[in-house]
Parts: sequence; structure tokens; C-alpha cells
Amino acid sequence: DRCIGIGVIGLGTVGGGVVKLINSHRESYVSGYGIHLEVVRGCALVPEAADACGLPRERFTDNWRELISDQAVDIVVELIGGEHPALEIHEAAIAAGKHIVTANKALLGVHVEHLGTLAAKAGVQIKCEAAAAGGIPVVNALEHALVANRILTIAGILNGTTNYILSRMEREGADYADVLADAQRLGFAEADPTADVGGFDAASKTAILASIGFHTRVTAADVFVEGIERISAEDIAVASELGYAIKLLGIARASEHGVEARVHPAMIPADHQLAAVSGPMNAVYIVGDAVGETMFYGAGAGSFPTASAVVGDILALAEPMSRGEEPLAEIEPYDRVL
Ligand code: HSE
Repeated sequence: DRCIGIGVIGLGTVGGGVVKLINSHRESYVSGYGIHLEVVRGCALVPEAADACGLPRERFTDNWRELISDQAVDIVVELIGGEHPALEIHEAAIAAGKHIVTANKALLGVHVEHLGTLAAKAGVQIKCEAAAAGGIPVVNALEHALVANRILTIAGILNGTTNYILSRMEREGADYADVLADAQRLGFAEADPTADVGGFDAASKTAILASIGFHTRVTAADVFVEGIERISAEDIAVASELGYAIKLLGIARASEHGVEARVHPAMIPADHQLAAVSGPMNAVYIVGDAVGETMFYGAGAGSFPTASAVVGDILALAEPMSRGEEPLAEIEPYDRVL
């Protein structure tokens, strides 16, 4: 079988985890699935990033255009996050006819329509399991296992930083600002924690899940957003006395007027499974008309949990490619508009 060349752009927490996971599991992917993956190129701002994840220096470049045009790269893995130059990277990879795997929620939350159209025209795929709820296989669930359903509701704890903050406020009666500082020190928070506490990170993820689950195009700007900045330890104590937990939820729901999508702190009955999700964990509750209630739980951030989702997407593309076949597109509705 042919070796599938992987080019990883961004060798930070997630990209470094991807390189390490592929290296440590290479033999089992060959023996288990007949898939030979090789990280042939890695791109970051500084070569020390390659050293830190064990990528040989001769495979390092600080020029993403060079990585994309390298003939040895079959799949481009974009893990730099943010809108620019990620958008330009995706456009260049599509123009070069290369499949993309990404965890970039901020990019897809805004440009999903544009990039989806470009990719479809070029016959390439953009896979994004890691972009919503990190290691939890919720994109796969919506794209495959649950397609027999009409999806009625998606409600998720999609941001680990805010869930960590709210959990500690509940447990210790701690104040918001003190706990945020701890979350930043522990490294869950985005570079600019406004994206976490303001609800914008959860809004991007809600837009992605709503787009997939409801066969439409919801962007982050379509999502009503309220963050957790105004939640006090007292609010949480009062809610708790009444038998509720306060969680930042991303909610997408089918309504008569189309898809309703919002992110805001919500009072959840203490006996609902979502109320029990504490610390930096994520969970997604999906209701389908045939399956009823489902609940997905796991790590929404972190090096190996997120790499697990990224490498799963890589393997799904690589499996047919190893046999010289093109990967099949996801099951896409004929009419994308609800
Ligand atoms: N800052 C994000 C979170 C990281 O706290 O969930 C994962 O997207």
C-alpha cells in the first residue's frame, strides 16, 4: 500500500500532539488498517517547535506555501487556529487539490459556506471532527450514525474554560476573576480569553454543529451570544438551592422559522446529565426523532484528545487513498437549506 504523506501546519499543543500520535501509533495503523501515514512536512514559526514534537529538522519549514506545494504532501492538516492566514492556507490547499483536516473552529464558524463550495468544486474534502468539542466524536455522529434522524435539538457544553470556571465557582464559591486567572495558567483558555468567557468560542462550535446537524449554513454571526462575565458566585448558589446548575450552553434547535442557534448561561435541572459535567470537560446532548436522547461526553481540548479527532479524520481520508481511490464525500443532503 502507498504511504500517505501528511503535512502539518501549526506544531503547537494540537499539531505537536498529532505528530507524536502518528509516530507512536504508526505500526498499529499499518497492521490494523493497512494504512501507512508519514508526517513528511511540518510548518511552524520556529524550528524548535519541530524539535519539541520529534519531527526531524529536514522536514521542517516556516513557509506554509512550500508545504502545500510539496508533492509528497497528500493531506494538509491546518492547526494554527484563527481566521488569517488559515483562510489563505485552506484556499491554497484546495487549489492544489489536497484534502484538508482541521480543528479550526474560528475559521469554519465564519467561512464554512465559502470553503465548502470551493472544496466541492475542486473535489476535495475538509474534515473537522476536532473543531467542535475536541476529542468527542460528535461531528461523525451527526454526519454518519445519526443521519437517519431528523435532528431536533443539539445542546452542548462546548467550552472547557467556562465550564471549569463555573464548576469552581459552584464548588468553592470562588469569584469569577480569580478562577479565570487559574484557567489561563492551566492552559485551557484561548490566547485571548474573551473568546472563551464571552461565549464566542462556543458560538463558533455551535455554528459548526448546527450547520452539520440541520443541513444548513449557520455562521458564528448568526448565533445569539451571551457569555458568563455577569454570572456571580451568588447566582450560582441561588440556582443550586433551587436545584439547578448554571452552564454555558450552545443550543441549536429546529423551529418553524428555520434553525435557532444561541449561546448563553442556562439553568439546568440538577438531575439532567449536562448538570453533572464539571471541570474543563465538554458534553453534547443530541435529540433525534428516531433515536431520542443521546449524550456524548469527553475532553473538548488538550493535546492528545484533540489529536485523537484529527488523526481519526486523517485515517478516514487515508484509507481509500491507500488503495488508490478517492475518499467518498460525506452524506450531503440534496437541498442544503432547511
Ligand atoms: N479554549 C477552548 C476551551 C479550547 O476552553 O474549550 C478548545 O477549543
